[in-house]
Amino acid sequence: MASESSQATVLVTRRVPRAVLDAIARHATLRIWEGDNPIPRETLLEWLPGCAGLYCMLTDRIDPEVLDAGSSLRVISQMAVGVDNIDLSACTARGIPVGNTPGVLTETTADLALALILATLRRVIESAAFIKAGQWVTWRPMELVGRDLHHSTVGIIGFGRIGKAVAKRLRGFDCHILYTQRSPDPDAARLGAAYVDLPTLLASSDVVTLHCPLTVETRGLIGARELAQMRQEAILVNTSRGPVIDQAALVEALAAGRIAGAGLDVTDPEPIPSDSPLLSMPQVVVLPHIGSATIATRTKMAELAADNLIAGLAGKRLPHLANPAVYPEA
Ligand code: GLV
Ligand code: GLV
Repeated sequence: MASESSQATVLVTRRVPRAVLDAIARHATLRIWEGDNPIPRETLLEWLPGCAGLYCMLTDRIDPEVLDAGSSLRVISQMAVGVDNIDLSACTARGIPVGNTPGVLTETTADLALALILATLRRVIESAAFIKAGQWVTWRPMELVGRDLHHSTVGIIGFGRIGKAVAKRLRGFDCHILYTQRSPDPDAARLGAAYVDLPTLLASSDVVTLHCPLTVETRGLIGARELAQMRQEAILVNTSRGPVIDQAALVEALAAGRIAGAGLDVTDPEPIPSDSPLLSMPQVVVLPHIGSATIATRTKMAELAADNLIAGLAGKRLPHLANPAVYPEA
């Protein structure tokens, strides 16, 4: 067995399950940021030199400055599927494979999307707050009435794993399902989803739900023009990344009643400022980025991120790789 001094060092930027740390510790010496909050930038820069591996979170911005500090990095492994916080092309240019955690969080995130859709349509959070505030006097025919999900038209933007898992669930609600992305998906017919362009989706849907990654193409994808194309009775739901929506435009559209509501698990920025107008709008449900937050799924994500990291340290191809271009084609 290699002595500590000959072992690679890995920086872990947050407390993750003990069993996962133990698994990594069999291959490397650990440098762990034990805080509950993100590792401060200056600490990250100070701790990286000499590290062969970085196990990071979506709250860590991994840019050229970080990569310069981590000039001995052989692998970066993020405990998330989304890697928009990481400058992937800079990593590729330096030959550093970047791991992520697709697949294991698909169903859990799709469940949360449904929870958010239903909570927003049926005014669940507002109704619970109404009771807690002592406002419930009696059953009233038209009090806290919302909108139906069943038999409604739902537009899915981004028909990847999570978008498809959402479609699968919506079939059980007898929804009419539309989707859009760059090109049609061969699985769509099986899932009863029809491919349309974005304007058609926006104009036809009672619920518009976002499941695309944040990229240069999707940043600000839903802005004032797109919100204006939505139906006035429609709601917008986001469990992907906050900046896919132009949030200022969303606030305006909601305030003007141009759309009926929004359910947001992600915002721009995160955390959402406590004085954001979104937080005082009864027709808006905001959650603290809990899409993948079940014990089982967060544990699997932590394990998968460890698998990626350990493979990278050993010079093996990562099981889940976010920048395949890093490896020359065989
Ligand atoms: C969470 O948002 C993730 O990308 O895994
Ligand atoms: C993530 O798992 C996706 O591809 O939707």
